[in-house]
Amino acid sequence: MIDRSPQGSARTARVLGTGSYMPEHILTNHDLERMVNTSDEWIRERTGIGERRIADEKTASSDLAAGAARLAMADAGVEISELDAIMVATVTPDSAFPCTACVVQAALGAPHAMAMDLSAACSGFIYGLAVARGLFAVGSYRKILLVGAECLSKIVDWTDRSTCVLLGDGAGAVVLGPSDLERGVLSTVLGADGTQGKLLMLPAGGSRMPATHETVDAKLHTLKMAGSELFKVAVRVLVKAAQDALAGCGMGIEDVDLLVPHQANARIIDAAAKRLGIPEEKVFVNLDRYGNTSAASIPIALDEACRQGRVHEGDIVLLDAFGGGLTWGASVIRW
Ligand code: ACO
Repeated sequence: MIDRSPQGSARTARVLGTGSYMPEHILTNHDLERMVNTSDEWIRERTGIGERRIADEKTASSDLAAGAARLAMADAGVEISELDAIMVATVTPDSAFPCTACVVQAALGAPHAMAMDLSAACSGFIYGLAVARGLFAVGSYRKILLVGAECLSKIVDWTDRSTCVLLGDGAGAVVLGPSDLERGVLSTVLGADGTQGKLLMLPAGGSRMPATHETVDAKLHTLKMAGSELFKVAVRVLVKAAQDALAGCGMGIEDVDLLVPHQANARIIDAAAKRLGIPEEKVFVNLDRYGNTSAASIPIALDEACRQGRVHEGDIVLLDAFGGGLTWGASVIRW
């Protein structure tokens, strides 16, 4: 699905401010060597990850989301009372319901904001951008808070070396306002292939397989992943989504100043960047410090890129993600 500028209106979504919030505790590859049969060398070579942040027992996704949201609000200079909508992209909601966005709304004290979660795994933030753009096109929304927040450590099987070394916790947020097409989201591509859902899933705890003692004993409430199958699909869909999003606004890869890809694996990012033909220095990577934080990965990376002075007014920023579902999405933003 290509979401071009809304018919009869030039309105789109523009980023007014960014923020990110990570748990303090750092789990290094050497820590993991003491937990499962792995090595720092294997993890770095195969994934590019050196360490990740892990939330403590009392912390849930909404706590990280609210932390990132407050920083993004301050960065944007927007009052919490001005928010019309709060959206949280997550696969690790505090609970099935109420949605995590409602918990964040209460934590922030944003009485005028509608609140909803988005479930598109690692592509959730891009899906959220497209929804925000649509809400601005409707005309009655002025300020939207979009957060990607995850506590993946809570759904990881800490005895499974093929998944536990990859994932981390954290949150990133942006405050969005309406804009004309001079600045803001120029084009977004979203996609999904539900026939590939089994490549990455959490089998139990929903209406298909409600929680029982047996499901808990069988660890069916933890994430299951077919890593090497996902790897192959990931590169293909990242390249296609990026090319389609650029074509959607009449641009080519040479127009891009910074690519902010989903931070799943350095080898996936390198392969996609190579096929797209974008030089390494234009690709933002921070997964060495955070691992894969699913829906939080792009907004965390975007916030860090801004703080490091990697994004300037007028720059073309390309966001590119894939995730469980399968889902994928890419967005071209003029900063
Ligand atoms: N330490 C040491 N050895 C390991 C580890 C580990 N942590 N994990 C797996 N291995 C072993 C395997 O058992 C296998 O051993 P074998 O050859 O004796 O059977 C060997 O390493 C190779 O395993 P592969 O799975 O083929 O390794 P691969 O090179 O494909 O790397 C990885 C695995 C890192 C998971 C890679 O496939 C990948 O990144 N896939 C994509 C993951 C991804 O993007 N997921 C999206 C997540 S989205 C979300 O999480 C919400």
